[in-house]
Amino acid sequence: MAKGIRFFELNTGAKMPSVGLGTWKVDPGVVGNTITTAIQVGYRHIDCAQLYYNEKEIGSALKKLFDDGLVKREDLWITSKLWCTDHLPEDVPKALDKTLQDLQLDYVDLYLMHWPVSMKKGSIGFKHENLTQTDIPSTWKAMEALYDSGKARAIGVSNFSSKKLGDLLEIARVPPAVNQVECHPIWQQPKLHAFCKAKGVHLSGYAPLGSPGSTDAIKNEILKNPILLTVAEKLGKTSAQVALRWGLQTGHSVLPKSTNEARIKENFDVLDWSIPEDLFAKLSGIEQERLIKGTAFVHETLGDYKTIEELWDGEL
Ligand code: A2P
Repeated sequence: MAKGIRFFELNTGAKMPSVGLGTWKVDPGVVGNTITTAIQVGYRHIDCAQLYYNEKEIGSALKKLFDDGLVKREDLWITSKLWCTDHLPEDVPKALDKTLQDLQLDYVDLYLMHWPVSMKKGSIGFKHENLTQTDIPSTWKAMEALYDSGKARAIGVSNFSSKKLGDLLEIARVPPAVNQVECHPIWQQPKLHAFCKAKGVHLSGYAPLGSPGSTDAIKNEILKNPILLTVAEKLGKTSAQVALRWGLQTGHSVLPKSTNEARIKENFDVLDWSIPEDLFAKLSGIEQERLIKGTAFVHETLGDYKTIEELWDGEL
């Protein structure tokens, strides 16, 4: 079984570090320290998004790290995401420019279309009346121009079903390098995994710990799952480490979020050991549930998707 999974190679030839620090719900006031701690621990991949409202503070922390010589820009992998209100082709480059300005960078390593859902330009929040018609091909064309410009060294998507990814691949001049989706032992996504692999699109797993504490996930505490706990106990690891290592061994990058130094370290300590095959097989028996359903993007009359089934094309 492979140990030391430090990078995954994308269809652009770039090597993406396999463990990235998630920054969703990390408050602007603590994100700077969190980034600095993670870099000191050894993380070289930070997963950002304009929607997380903390890219400015992340930019200040990165600048200080570069100025102090703790890390070089070329040794870091920075991902950011285009929010749903910026899908019009003329707004796509402006959104990336704003992100680059906030992050104080000349380029991002990866820029993702955050959801296959458009919201009205300038609208704020997740109200259903903000939903509007989505035109993925025209947004993607603008994403391709960012790739051509070099400001986004790779482009990809997030929260795309196999069907939506397949449709995009049919028309894309630059194929997406990544599909970032919810993925953890309680939502393993084998069908999407196989599809991405067959098409050369890297699957990146967000909420790899099941986002404990978030309202979407509150009812299903992954880290207390009995099968996960049994495997963890046998290996002398924590259930969080087993969840992350499961992801790496399944073949996808993982993006755990933590603001706590001990847990930031714990989550990175998944590179030089592996789950043996017999215990790995036990994890496939875990009952499955999508935790982040995207209900805010679904409405009977507004937007594109009347039901959750339509949003995910039945991958539920
Ligand atoms: P904290 O920031 O206090 O560590 P996900 O990455 O799946 O979205 O999960 C993030 C949530 O999981 C955060 O609430 C985070 O809290 C918590 N968390 C992160 N690492 C661990 C860990 N090793 N053990 C338990 N909880 C963790």
